[in-house]
Amino acid sequence: MFQLTRSVTWQALQRLQQATAQDRISDYFAADPQRFDKMSLRVGGLFLDYSKHHVSEAVLAKLLELADHSALVQRRAQMFSGDIINVTEDRPVLHTALRNLGEGPLMVDGKDVMPEIQRTREQIKQFSEAVRSGEWRGYSGERIKDVVNIGIGGSDLGPNMASRALLKYRHAELNFHFVSNVDGAHIQKVLARLDPATTLFIVSTKTFSTQETLLNAKTARRWFLDNAGEGADVGAHFVAASTNRKAAMEFGIREENVFEFWAWVGGRYSMWSSIGLPIALSIGFDGFMEMLEGAYAMDQHFIEAPSARNMPVLMALIGIWYINFHGAETQAIVPYDQALHQLPAFLQQLDMESNGKSVDIFGHPVNYKTGPIVWGQTGSNGQHAFFQLLHQGTRYVPIDFIASLKPEPGVEEHHFALLTNMLAQANAFMMGSQEGSQLDPYSCPGNRPSSVLLLDELTPRNLGALIALYEHKVFVQGVIWNINSFDQWGVQLGKRIAGEISERIDERSQEFDASTQGLLALVREHFRP
Ligand code: F6P
Repeated sequence: MFQLTRSVTWQALQRLQQATAQDRISDYFAADPQRFDKMSLRVGGLFLDYSKHHVSEAVLAKLLELADHSALVQRRAQMFSGDIINVTEDRPVLHTALRNLGEGPLMVDGKDVMPEIQRTREQIKQFSEAVRSGEWRGYSGERIKDVVNIGIGGSDLGPNMASRALLKYRHAELNFHFVSNVDGAHIQKVLARLDPATTLFIVSTKTFSTQETLLNAKTARRWFLDNAGEGADVGAHFVAASTNRKAAMEFGIREENVFEFWAWVGGRYSMWSSIGLPIALSIGFDGFMEMLEGAYAMDQHFIEAPSARNMPVLMALIGIWYINFHGAETQAIVPYDQALHQLPAFLQQLDMESNGKSVDIFGHPVNYKTGPIVWGQTGSNGQHAFFQLLHQGTRYVPIDFIASLKPEPGVEEHHFALLTNMLAQANAFMMGSQEGSQLDPYSCPGNRPSSVLLLDELTPRNLGALIALYEHKVFVQGVIWNINSFDQWGVQLGKRIAGEISERIDERSQEFDASTQGLLALVREHFRP
């Protein structure tokens, strides 16, 4: 059987790591004045500079060979054409179909899925336009002013991140709230500010069985009836985005207000589906479609561009270089853009839930590192928090800096300061400081790698492209590591045990370990009738 670490290319990369370990990234620039031009790339409204990496030309060539020798071409074609690549859940992986704007059918199980996708898009269009225009009325005849999305994980992070990122396009008379945590403090705080007559709840849950979401949805329904009156029309204030139409209807949602999607859309890849309903409500259906167009354009680039000029492939390979050959444990995401403040959290789920695996697609344990710990927060705030460790600490942390070039009117000076801070940091990480000797506490060693990803402007189109870029980066890494990026059995285990523990709160179950039993006894004290 093929073993990744025994491959000739992998072993050549190990040797290259040793041979180049002492190289200075800055020397690569000195040796090649064309380096920035060669190692930067534009795709639509996105520009990637990957020149400030500890990657020589020989390393890059070998990394590209790693991609060439992987199943990338085959697996990518399988994903886009709806083959079953999520083998443990026996499903295709077709979030790309949701933003497919091409002509022609897409067959899954002998059925063209495009008409259903178009039907749901039309449903989102009609509904979002009715709410935004004020045609949609609540039980008292008033128009909707507040939209509350209730969901968790992929049913929260995508629409939450995108609605905040695109806040400047938001409908002026609609406010958006996102409730995810099962901690009642979250929903209580949101509901305290709302009027049931003018509030719309979207219950966003692929399965309609997630404990956190169902509990929050029931609390919202109780609050609604308590405040609006027992007979008030739940159906005028609750809609659902779910694959489970039956459960949504049992909850009290009208059949025509269940926005369907399909088992082949993974939770963390679902913002392109009806889970994106809050985005359409916020920025309008045309804006939502622009976001899909941006993602579609990135899909086309991913399919068509040769690996050496393929943005997701290059980002994936550079990540692999650090994770598997330099021992990097984490990847920092630092958007220099306040509107993107939820992006690190979104990418954390996308990457860690996808590639946090230690068994390959054949069920064999892997003997190499897989997905990194993804973390981060906005710059310039991060500069005054964790950057010290990145500059002078003992860890080796590659960084993705992300920013948009176009300033908002009225705050040009702020935007200039934001961008210059980001460029200063990327430069400082590479160059370090020359002051003092190496042992001097003032000296920064430098030689720390980063990418700079610039958006011409933070538009729906460019955001769509950016998210699709990271989705495909994660996919390429999963293919090279030969893991299934589309299941999440660890999360399922937690869900199952939470169910078992809550069912046994009244008995002293011997099935749990002594620690869990002891802690459960303390919890039980507070829940005696
Ligand atoms: O976190 C695990 C997960 O299954 C995610 O993939 C999903 O986004 C989330 O739970 C919520 O699930 P659901 O949309 O079914 O409520």
